[in-house]
Amino acid sequence: MCVMENTDQLTERKARQPVGVFDSGVGGISVLRELIKVMPNEDYIYLGDSKNAPYGTKSLEQVRELSFHNAQVLLEQGAKGLVVACNTATSAAVRLMRGMYPGLPIVGIEPALKPAALQKEHPHVLVMATPMTVQQEKFRQLMARYEDRAQIYPLPCPGLMEFVEAGDLESERLYDFLRELLTPYLTKPLDSVVLGCTHYPFARKVIQQIVGENVTIFDGGAGTAREMRRRLAAAGLLSPSETAGTVTFENSLATEEELELCQRLLHMDI
Ligand code: DGL
Repeated sequence: MCVMENTDQLTERKARQPVGVFDSGVGGISVLRELIKVMPNEDYIYLGDSKNAPYGTKSLEQVRELSFHNAQVLLEQGAKGLVVACNTATSAAVRLMRGMYPGLPIVGIEPALKPAALQKEHPHVLVMATPMTVQQEKFRQLMARYEDRAQIYPLPCPGLMEFVEAGDLESERLYDFLRELLTPYLTKPLDSVVLGCTHYPFARKVIQQIVGENVTIFDGGAGTAREMRRRLAAAGLLSPSETAGTVTFENSLATEEELELCQRLLHMDI
């Protein structure tokens, strides 16, 4: 016998399905941490594509294809919505993904330039991101919106995400790499640094050490998590569960070390 579900029953069943989150690697775990803070009762599937990382130095076409593939993998596992926890994939593919899956809650992440630019009267803001994010039209438009209100320095950081992928979050080598990258900006009256790549919050301590305690560091993880909660609530898809949800890690590298790194990044103090 075939029992038909009414719309309410269907939504209620869907609300119990997991939230899908993906990134080019382990960086999006910085967004996952924020998602868990605002929606602790949800179940999450986190897909890291470390085998194909970095995305930020690939072609637009490649990043689009990889992003579509990640979305499909998560949807096949029943994801009720998607968080693109990668600034690079967001700038390259989120608009197209929304066209492919109308009605599906899809939230991306972009550099948190707004709070940094509005922090005070004409602040000096350094935006660290991948080469692709900085080149994309989406970022140019974002910059154009705040150019009158802030002095903005976009800084592509090829090579930085690789440290985080290797689990290196505070070595001397990382310090030297960042010191060299940031030195030209240390003579500017910097007020804030925007971490425009989801891997960079894991290197925050070293970045702060180099730019100094008076510089405020912003990242878009918390705003993205709140936006996803709003979108799920609007669709009636927030989990009705009253107990803590689960996190399932998947990674295209699928090695023991990779999955251990995911757990470490999820729980460490940053
Ligand atoms: N975590 C990614 C981002 O937020 C990109 C890192 C990469 O794959 O280059 O942009």
